[in-house]
Amino acid sequence: MFEKPAELKKLFEEKVNQAAASADVEQLRIEFLGKKGHVAELMQELRNVPNELKKEAGQKINEVKQFIEGAIAERIEEIKKLEEQKLIDSAESYDESMPINADLGSYHPITLVRREVESIFQSMGFTVEDYSEITDDYNCFEALNIPKHHPARDMQDTYYLSSNQLLKTHTSAAQNTILRKYKASLESGKPIRAIFPGRCFRNEKIDACHENTFFQMEGIMVDEEISISNLIYFMKTMLSEVFQRDITVRLRPGFFPFVEPGFELDISCLICGGKGCPSCKDSGWLELCPCGMIHPNVLTAAGIDPEKYTGFAFGLGMTRLAMMRYGVKDIRVFNSGNLKALSQFTEKSFTRPENESKEA
Ligand code: PHE
Repeated sequence: MFEKPAELKKLFEEKVNQAAASADVEQLRIEFLGKKGHVAELMQELRNVPNELKKEAGQKINEVKQFIEGAIAERIEEIKKLEEQKLIDSAESYDESMPINADLGSYHPITLVRREVESIFQSMGFTVEDYSEITDDYNCFEALNIPKHHPARDMQDTYYLSSNQLLKTHTSAAQNTILRKYKASLESGKPIRAIFPGRCFRNEKIDACHENTFFQMEGIMVDEEISISNLIYFMKTMLSEVFQRDITVRLRPGFFPFVEPGFELDISCLICGGKGCPSCKDSGWLELCPCGMIHPNVLTAAGIDPEKYTGFAFGLGMTRLAMMRYGVKDIRVFNSGNLKALSQFTEKSFTRPENESKEA
């Protein structure tokens, strides 16, 4: 019995290194941690262990179980990163050898993507909201059902100012303000439909895929009887417009304290259309956007009655969208000030919304 946990660990280690796609890891999870998995089998065998040895044997099994859980989570992260990089690598890229068009100037690729997404949402009746980059603990966390010391805060360490304020870690920080702004019109029968693009900050180690300063686009819709179907419809329409092809979406469960239920939204692979190819590791899907139904506590914090109103929220990674859209392989390009790269994206790839005046 005592050798078995060690053997199991060895078997798992061999297998986990061979798992190349998310589906393989899921298979492993079932094989080892599932109800009828290897760990459960060991637990069953514990019955036959003499009483005085039970405690030690149980501990050993638990250690292996924790090890497997941790390794599976790590492997999923690794695969996710690899899949993301593959996709970016396979996108059509810009040409750094082009001369700098300094006389005319050019738009930043994030601006181009932001405007494009904005105009799509405006055509669906959404307002575009502005929100500051500096906010406070209440708006960034507490109003979003993330109390002090909640572990979800670990993922969103940020820059704190001596004034007790902080740089916002996600565009969700604007939810409370926007919900309050439109509460009265909601109660007079007008649904809230708003998007709020913005710059976000996190304490990140910077590499080709991670930046401490990046852009998101948040969207919310609140009314009576808003359901997950509304969420799926809006996301599908918007993403089909952005990528200019018919996009299929699917939802998987995901955890964010400010939504319930929460989801990760996947889109059918842009390269193979869902048939399966190396870019999507044969799964046919790409993870794109977290979303969910707004948690009742978040509505309550904004003075909106969750018994009467429901809504959805999503957080689109705009920097990532720009990388996919323009084949930018290194995220550091965006904040680099490198005109050789940044001036390659001109108005050619963008149609100005009709209601927007030409800027100087
Ligand atoms: N704010 C979340 C993040 O940045 C994303 C999110 C937005 C999730 C809206 C669900 C709903 O990680």
